[in-house]
Amino acid sequence: MKTLFSKKSAGLKGSFRVPGDKSISHRSIMLGSLADGITEVSGFLEAEDALATLKAFESMGVKIERTGKGKLRIHGVGIDGLKKPVGDIDVGNSGTSMRLLAGLLAGQAFDSVLTGDNSLTKRPMRRVLDPLSEMGAVVESSDKGTSPLKISGGAPLQAIDYIMPMGSAQVKSCLLLAGLYAEGETRVTEPAITRDHTERMLKGFGYTVNREGNTISLSGGGRLSAASIDVPADISSAAFFIVAACIVPDSEITLEHVGVNPSRTGIIDILLQMGANIELTNQRTVGGELVADIVVKSSELHGIEIPEELVPLAIDEFPVLFIAAACATGKTILTGAEELRVKESDRIQVMADGLQAIGVDAQATADGMIINSSLIAGGEIESHDDHRIAMAFAVAGLRSEQGIKINNCENVNTSFPSFAALAEQCGFKLDIA
Ligand code: S3P
Repeated sequence: MKTLFSKKSAGLKGSFRVPGDKSISHRSIMLGSLADGITEVSGFLEAEDALATLKAFESMGVKIERTGKGKLRIHGVGIDGLKKPVGDIDVGNSGTSMRLLAGLLAGQAFDSVLTGDNSLTKRPMRRVLDPLSEMGAVVESSDKGTSPLKISGGAPLQAIDYIMPMGSAQVKSCLLLAGLYAEGETRVTEPAITRDHTERMLKGFGYTVNREGNTISLSGGGRLSAASIDVPADISSAAFFIVAACIVPDSEITLEHVGVNPSRTGIIDILLQMGANIELTNQRTVGGELVADIVVKSSELHGIEIPEELVPLAIDEFPVLFIAAACATGKTILTGAEELRVKESDRIQVMADGLQAIGVDAQATADGMIINSSLIAGGEIESHDDHRIAMAFAVAGLRSEQGIKINNCENVNTSFPSFAALAEQCGFKLDIA
């Protein structure tokens, strides 16, 4: 899929399940590989990012069988069982793979090199390299603090008590994974709650992890026991359909079996504050993660000042939330979201430019955006190699006068290869080239 042309839709209908959660899929491979015994995974996200993590562990000697669609059998090698990979580990576009693996590889006896694609090699890695070197890790990066990362094996790690300067689940998880190999108790304090899948899954594998307020701690030297993992549908992929059903009149859709871990549901809270008609039904806990079916009906949204404490809980959903804001009455103001500038693209600048190009009154600020209610005229957009930019503008097309053409959409495959198929099935009007 190179180019998407998205046009006005008369209404979205249907009940369906989007693919598995990307964050949980990455972690299932990592912890399943390090565990003693066989871990069975279902609902695994078969998309480029999570597959990059899978291939990384295969290259370190882990046997991972594909037993069906989204089903894996991981033959864990134990906490010290990884082998030196043949060649560099290329994780493509995946920031989660690179940052979490940096922590885990710092604790291994062998040397390794982590590389990625053009976009990933521009993203900041000092946020993990600085605390890792405080722990005693030896990692070389470019002068700008970017990858490739050359990690020297065999450096003994010491636990640290680290106060994170930014809310980042990747930094937190990197340090907790390094902490598995460190002497003493690793403590990480986050400035705001961020996704806690690493902590939950470690506990599911029988590892003791404590949380006191915003401080998470674990002691090195333990072992993980294999577990079964049922990966729920990714709320970050569901987000495109949630916003689409809110803004397209005569819509009603149900998104099945979506992960609604409270550290991920910022999008729902923000949209509810904007007046959305969203209901969570059939809530249950599956493998330590909260899951629900999400029913969304069209509604008249209104602009709000987005509460800053919700920002980390919706961090990947802002591209599509900006589209909701454009369709809402009045003004929407986002602040405290400077982290958006270091995602797969600078999501503040790229979204502001794209919104202006399709006729929306949007102003980028240093740490957010101001968006006024607008009629979406339409036009042509670049995805800037960012999957969520491409899909957000496909949603905008549904309310556009002349349609929106989005160029270079191949990157949608990093998180959501079936996006266009599911979108057409529920009523998006797409031309796919
Ligand atoms: C992720 C954490 C977030 C998020 C990313 C996935 C994770 O990144 O944006 O898509 O799985 O831990 P940050 O930790 O950089 O906020």
